[in-house]
Amino acid sequence: MKKGCLLIKNAAELVTCSGSQAKKGKEMQQLHVILDGAVVIEDGIIKAVGTTAELLKLYDEADYQVIDAAGKAVLPGFVDSHTHVVFGGYRAEEFSWRLRGDSYMEIMERGGGIINSVRATREASREELFAVGKKRLDSMLSFGVTTVEGKSGYGLDYDTEIKQLEVMQELDQVHPVDVVRTFLGAHAVPKDYKGREDEFIDYLIEKVLPAVSERKLAEFCDIFCEKNVFSVEQSRRLLSKAKEMGMKLKLHADEIVQLGGAELAAELGAVSADHLLQASDKGVADMAEAGVVATLLPCTAFSLKEHFARARYMIDSGCAVALATDLNPGSCFTESIPLVFALATLYMKMSTEEAITALTINGAAAVGRADSIGSLDAGKQGDVVILEFPSYKYIPYHIAVSTVEKVIKNGVLVFDKEAR
Ligand code: NIG
Ligand code: FE
Repeated sequence: MKKGCLLIKNAAELVTCSGSQAKKGKEMQQLHVILDGAVVIEDGIIKAVGTTAELLKLYDEADYQVIDAAGKAVLPGFVDSHTHVVFGGYRAEEFSWRLRGDSYMEIMERGGGIINSVRATREASREELFAVGKKRLDSMLSFGVTTVEGKSGYGLDYDTEIKQLEVMQELDQVHPVDVVRTFLGAHAVPKDYKGREDEFIDYLIEKVLPAVSERKLAEFCDIFCEKNVFSVEQSRRLLSKAKEMGMKLKLHADEIVQLGGAELAAELGAVSADHLLQASDKGVADMAEAGVVATLLPCTAFSLKEHFARARYMIDSGCAVALATDLNPGSCFTESIPLVFALATLYMKMSTEEAITALTINGAAAVGRADSIGSLDAGKQGDVVILEFPSYKYIPYHIAVSTVEKVIKNGVLVFDKEAR
């Protein structure tokens, strides 16, 4: 029996999330559930999906490692499509200040915030960054995440941005969770460039971006397009260059102030625009039209005590919505997928079905991989989650607690709550 050859049978519900592109608007409600379902995985790739009776006629159990999922729901592995998983140091002190009433931007403007983590990340060795990154990926895996997007952006200089991306590359190679890398060199204005933001954008375009793109250290380029950080024009300049170099685009858009980030994402054909708490009606319409995935980060709004993004309005306007954690040391220090489900369903007017779509096939689309992950379809990676409950409906119902029992990556069992 070869590694990565697995047969899962008797699943009370096999939730396939079937599809090979982002689901927009009403399509997000469609999960495609097979009762008493089974999946066959060979060499890490899904070979067949169907009812247990159908598949056991075609495939011999003796040829596979077999998991009996009787009484359990089976889903595609979750895709956490927006995180800052590799960073040095922590900002627990700033969290206390925020509890006292200081705002995130006030802390940032007086020299704390992202710049604080930049100092710690510059000082950290590769080994230290690798070790903390690995621990965080282990935790994400336990929540059913099989692919994660990870951003640089705590370096803001050549050496540290490259160091962060290389650490993520190494993590991708050795850890079961796949790491999709994003270059976020324009995450904040470094101290020595204060008031010279345009020159910093020039520096990124001339010195850092070419190395990142030539060495294929990142698939995506992202920017914090925000008042007092980078303007729409600066964002357009950097992202257009990245696009010319063959990179795909993302934006931290319209998070705190309505700046027109959503509109810019549509104009540039970005794969996703993220946060979007303040996105305008026109921005939402433009994204729906251009097929930009709206990646919403409810844990960040929760942690900053802001109102949530208008998920219902976006879906009803025909957008494809993805959900992600935004794990980072400042605005949102959590890798909790259960909390994302809780907030999305209880506070953002999303149905359980829409939230699952947002964390599977739409998450996959947000990292440009809807053709290879995000659903249980033949030909896709064998990335599977088995719940300890018989229905996907238990995911948000068990509030903010993980319902994940087993996680399979490329056909190999990599997490088992039972075995712990
Ligand atoms: O996605 N908004 C900007 N960037 C991160 C926060 C990073 C930090 O505070 O360290 C975010 O929320
Ligand atoms: Fe972020």
